Amino acid sequence: MIPDAVLNRTHNCGQLRESDIGAEVRLCGWVRSYRDHGGVIFVDLRDRYGITQVVFDTPEEGDQAGQDSYELADSLRNEWVISIAGVVRHRGEDRINPKLDTGQIEVVSTELTVLNQSDSVPFEPDSFTSVAEETRLKYRYIDLRRPEMTRAMTLRHEITSAMRSVLDGEGFVEIETPFLTRSTPEGARDFLVPSRMNQADFYALPQSPQLFKQILMVGGLDRYYQVVRCFRDEDLRADRQPEFTQLDLEMSFVTQRDVMNVTNSVLRKVCQVAGKDFPEEVPVITHDEAMDKYGIDRPDIRFEMFLHDVSGIAGATDFKVFTAAIESGGIVKTLCVPGGAKFTRKEIDVYTAFVADYGAKGLAWSKLEDGAFAGGVAKFLSPEVQQQLRDATGANDGDILFFAAAGADDVNRVLAPLRVRVAEDLGLCDSETCAWCWITEFPLVSYNEQEKRWDSLHHPFTMPAVEDIEQLMSDPGAAKSLAYDIVCNGTEMGGGSIRIHDRHIQEKVFEILGIGPQEATEKFGFLLDALRFGAPPHGGLALGLDRIVMEMVSAPSLRDVIAFPKTQRGTCPLTGAPGEVDDKQLAELDLKIIVPHKN
Ligand code: AMO
Ligand code: AMP
Repeated sequence: MIPDAVLNRTHNCGQLRESDIGAEVRLCGWVRSYRDHGGVIFVDLRDRYGITQVVFDTPEEGDQAGQDSYELADSLRNEWVISIAGVVRHRGEDRINPKLDTGQIEVVSTELTVLNQSDSVPFEPDSFTSVAEETRLKYRYIDLRRPEMTRAMTLRHEITSAMRSVLDGEGFVEIETPFLTRSTPEGARDFLVPSRMNQADFYALPQSPQLFKQILMVGGLDRYYQVVRCFRDEDLRADRQPEFTQLDLEMSFVTQRDVMNVTNSVLRKVCQVAGKDFPEEVPVITHDEAMDKYGIDRPDIRFEMFLHDVSGIAGATDFKVFTAAIESGGIVKTLCVPGGAKFTRKEIDVYTAFVADYGAKGLAWSKLEDGAFAGGVAKFLSPEVQQQLRDATGANDGDILFFAAAGADDVNRVLAPLRVRVAEDLGLCDSETCAWCWITEFPLVSYNEQEKRWDSLHHPFTMPAVEDIEQLMSDPGAAKSLAYDIVCNGTEMGGGSIRIHDRHIQEKVFEILGIGPQEATEKFGFLLDALRFGAPPHGGLALGLDRIVMEMVSAPSLRDVIAFPKTQRGTCPLTGAPGEVDDKQLAELDLKIIVPHKN
């Protein structure tokens, strides 16, 4: 039995300061490390709050209790769980550790209790950089003891609390919506759950609470939010998990500006909690402008370095690559990199290989040196063209221009990542800075060449920004929508829209999307029904909580800010999920595995 007193901590391991010198204290924690300095044993004791140095001095002759305690200390190993009682003393000027909050003091232990031993750990929490991520995830409880992980988890909690407090203050109510539901149209594949009670029927886990939150508005709840898990079966990347968390919100009787203002208030508080700046006025960039200047609808605006459409100029040259692209309906865009003339041939080759990964056929370039273009495609650029290019791009001596010639989408797909890559190489992407911007005036739909149909850019419930529905029907591609995204450092942190509250407009939009009346009724009939019974004008947005925390702690992956994330292959090394189920469970669900297990 462990005596109760041994668990009665007076302080945590990050708390003691010089002002505590002389105090009798009790600490509990994990042995982070131990050192035997011939007659004195030093133990670094760790808990969630920090590290405190504990000292076991050689006992006096005849001090049996001291002798026992010293011998026990001598047997300690890393990650054992202990409780110590002792007295706080100054470390001595030459042993002060400025890296630790508790670095001025140490605790001289007068009593030691081993609360639990630990097997030899598969990795020390401090040496994680050399540990495979799979191992970190398998032994996540050890990984979570790392100060970086502890900080990410506690900051995540503080951010969520801050979000809740802002929205609570604005009159929002948190309402839960079902996980076992029908498919929601966020564009990814659904995770399906077979229903035992309804043979051959499946629930879908929600990709977002989209339909429910709109129905809550029809239900008169006025201002809803939820910190909610969403499930999307899509190919995973560093900023995508199959289950992730949104701060989801919806409001009635609002304009786009109202939703953006509430979101700004939430983010301002989040940044305050995380110790980051948030701008007084968040820049608003239209979708067209973002595509034109940055080649992407989630621009990284920490640095300038714009793209310029130089089709008019390039089309008048004798350079086949440019003229051929333009003749076949494409464009030529250039990325002007200030100071890029110093790039070596080798570096340019690396960028050429980089854009090839994005499908580029090549990367034309030319440097501006001593008042003229030099190298690369300079030989195709007459003095007039050179002047026009300078005027169009603002290029100066010492800069380099990279050119991409192809269809507009392909050009942007290549130059947008090149812009970021070059900026990273030039050290322009400061990880401490958070550059937020809103993107507005998205097109309502985009044409899906493969499927030969129009797809929603946001989702099918987004309000078109057209006065005239006839105009919408005759030229869907030209219609803008009342959708908006919030972007930070090139990552989409959230998105939302004003919704369609009129059933007739909703039906028209379904018609454009090729969703027939029967399919619409089957999939979203319940929403269409709700729209018939007094739906208020409404709109909302969802923030990706994991992505926000990731940005706030400058983590390279979402997995660093989620306690129990999935790997790139969607597995959980800790639990072994997903796993086989036994035949009895399958039989209860009337399911049969027809393709044998791969292992
Ligand atoms: P959307 O699909 O844009 O909008 O999602 C909102 C935000 O959620 C985050 N996010 C993800 N985070 C991690 N892993 C993923 N797989 C993932 N997918 C999305 C992003 C994104 O901006 N119902 C609408 C919102 C609305 O219209 O109100 C929706 O879900 O940060
Ligand atoms: P080539 O005439 O094919 O030798 O190409 C001359 C230069 O143009 C090389 O630097 C190529 O990388 C570049 N280039 C080729 N195709 C394209 C393209 N579609 N867009 C931009 N540059 C290209």
